[in-house]
Amino acid sequence: MPADSAPTSSRQFWDAAARENAAWYVATGYTSETPEFFAQGARETDHFLQFCGIGIRPTDRVLEIGCGVGRMTRRLSELAGSLVAADVSREMLERARQNVGDRGTVEYLLVPGNGALPLSDDSVDVVFSYITLQHVPNQVDQLRYLHESARVLRPGGRLAVQVRGDTPRAIALDWLGHLRHLLRGRQTLRPEWRGSRLSDAAIAGAFDYSAGLKVCRLGARHRWVILG
Ligand SMILES: C[S@@+](CC[C@H](N)C(=O)[O-])C[C@H]1O[C@@H](n2cnc3c(N)ncnc32)[C@H](O)[C@@H]1O
Repeated sequence: MPADSAPTSSRQFWDAAARENAAWYVATGYTSETPEFFAQGARETDHFLQFCGIGIRPTDRVLEIGCGVGRMTRRLSELAGSLVAADVSREMLERARQNVGDRGTVEYLLVPGNGALPLSDDSVDVVFSYITLQHVPNQVDQLRYLHESARVLRPGGRLAVQVRGDTPRAIALDWLGHLRHLLRGRQTLRPEWRGSRLSDAAIAGAFDYSAGLKVCRLGARHRWVILG
């Protein structure tokens, strides 16, 4: 599928979010893309890679799904040999390009948002994604992202992808957050923000091979799908 074909409704939502206040929609503790915003992105990148036990080597080609304005992309581009920064939103990608630059090694990739990845089989060493799949409005598209990640990974490739868990506590905490943000005028009741969640069983079923696949809980709401 060409990268630009049949975009989901997420493109419209996230383009509008980027125009309204990109920093807030990327990381709700911020309202502008300050040095601290990027420093926090770098710290979180290192923390989550360590939590997942995923190392990035200087020769690796890394795919980041949902790069936003480049908050974590900068750090990933320092670690990797080359990086594909993918996002459903043109506006977010343009900001990421301004914030991170090309550095000769970063490729910005517009994706349709339904999980399809316009990349060849066996073409990346690491797939990384944070607070992105949780915003994908339906499970079919979320699971397609996992399938597609497995397809584009080289044999022996590594994967760290965060999704939202489906426990009653996770659901309740998420709704509290949506309502709190709504009261401040943010568009957090839209399906493109609320997204959907995956059970551990659904995640395991998304992979043709299960050897090495782990699902680790981090806090009440986050799950990390880990391969490697
Ligand atoms: C909350 S932001 C997080 C960005 C980045 N991962 C970070 O932590 O700084 C979510 C990003 O996912 C992108 N996104 C939302 N739905 C998507 C989809 N269906 N496919 C790809 N990207 C999507 C949004 O455009 C946005 O840039």
